[in-house]
Amino acid sequence: MHDVPHEHETILEVEAPRVKFGRGAIDEVGPEAAAAGLRRVALFTDARLAKLEFVERARRSLRAAGVDVAEFDRVRIEPTDGSFRDAAAFAQDARVDGYVSVGGGSVIDTAKAANLYATYPAPFERYVNAPLGEGAPVPGPLAPHIACPTTSGTGSECTGIAIFDFEAHEVKTGIASRRLRPTLGIVDPDATRTLPTTVVASSGFDVLAHALESYTARPYTERSRPASPLARPLSQGANPYSDLACAEALRLLGDNLERAVHDAGDDEAREAVMYAATLAGIGFGNAGVHVPHGMAYAVAGLVHGYRPPDYDADHAMVPHGMSVIVSAPSVARFTASAAPEKHRRIAMLLGAERTKHDDEIGDVLAVALGRLMRATGMPNGLRALGYVDADVPRLVAGAFAQQRLLANAPRRVGEEELAALFAGAMTVW
Ligand SMILES: NC(=O)c1ccc[n+]([C@@H]2O[C@H](COP(=O)([O-])OP(=O)(O)OC[C@H]3O[C@@H](n4cnc5c(N)ncnc54)[C@H](O)[C@@H]3O)[C@@H](O)[C@H]2O)c1
Ligand SMILES: [Fe+2]
Repeated sequence: MHDVPHEHETILEVEAPRVKFGRGAIDEVGPEAAAAGLRRVALFTDARLAKLEFVERARRSLRAAGVDVAEFDRVRIEPTDGSFRDAAAFAQDARVDGYVSVGGGSVIDTAKAANLYATYPAPFERYVNAPLGEGAPVPGPLAPHIACPTTSGTGSECTGIAIFDFEAHEVKTGIASRRLRPTLGIVDPDATRTLPTTVVASSGFDVLAHALESYTARPYTERSRPASPLARPLSQGANPYSDLACAEALRLLGDNLERAVHDAGDDEAREAVMYAATLAGIGFGNAGVHVPHGMAYAVAGLVHGYRPPDYDADHAMVPHGMSVIVSAPSVARFTASAAPEKHRRIAMLLGAERTKHDDEIGDVLAVALGRLMRATGMPNGLRALGYVDADVPRLVAGAFAQQRLLANAPRRVGEEELAALFAGAMTVW
């Protein structure tokens, strides 16, 4: 008996990112950079943020600590392979020994990619997830990166993932490696005071989806054991550590998201949502997301001209959180039977009544999600974003390419299932 190898995973790896959270934390970026031995950093931000006091505080703190700054404020909102390349070219020329990013997921992910390609130059496809790229491992450690999020959303300060739109393929994908994880996250809720309503709502639903998907992912014990002890994937599946973070993030969102969206002056609610974002980042950084994110990468890649309010972008785009949440109710109806108790708990954390019968839970959760979407001005499904039934085959192809994510779902998801899930996401209520 003791000689029989385990077929299934028995080991959980906990990766705890280093994070500072709280008001005033942004003023500590300079001393932290200096303590990491940095003398000259690339400061990544976007054009709108570059004009705000929050970024000025980061600059001041760095200068006061004697750290020289080379600034890049041309980050594209919802980055592409082209914009990642531009940022990498800047980083290569800037002769820096570290990175500071102050911005949303678009900014933090761009800094991760710039750090990677400036440290280990390679053809762009080299490190991109298979099958669109080669999925080659990152050869060694990257330069230190201090990530300071300004949206209450992605949790990118906690993850080893950088997401971009691969334009030639009309689909989003990413680069995933532990080496991409920032060395420190500085999370200061002061940043949220200038966030526009639609950005709070959309990035808040990204948080909700991270927590919901990680919590309902295939349990890590159902995955096969990796071929070598060092080949354990970043996305391990649902596990007790990420469950803890995700359930708490969902509770905070259920209690605070509506208030945070509608009242920019509600510091308490905005701070709670920002804390939920970091918690969910820790959760999904260890567990991984699944079908709604896989579908979202196809949706965002096939954008038909939608221009969201409040986003300072000069191109058509579906904000990430919106692209994810429009499919979440449809997916909840499909996945509920695989983990009814967990779906029931999520619905209750979002304000639904306890359901008695397992076969009602998917619907109850879908309705709870729809109610929150409606109350916060989210679009009523894919149709409201400009997609039509004839788009479904291309959406299916884009989502089916996200095998890393689909494999993390609690049920098997093939092309037929994806077609039904997209059809179910055309309208939410
Ligand atoms: N790496 C990861 O783990 C991860 C996880 C989820 C999503 N993402 C990616 O992150 C990107 C989305 O990031 P996001 O939702 O944080 O938004 P974002 O970075 O795209 O920013 C959205 C808009 O808000 C503005 N903005 C940001 N902070 C502001 C502030 N404090 N005040 C005023 N305006 C502000 C920006 O200028 C922009 O116009 C997508 O590309 C998505 O795929 C990455
Ligand atoms: Fe996300």
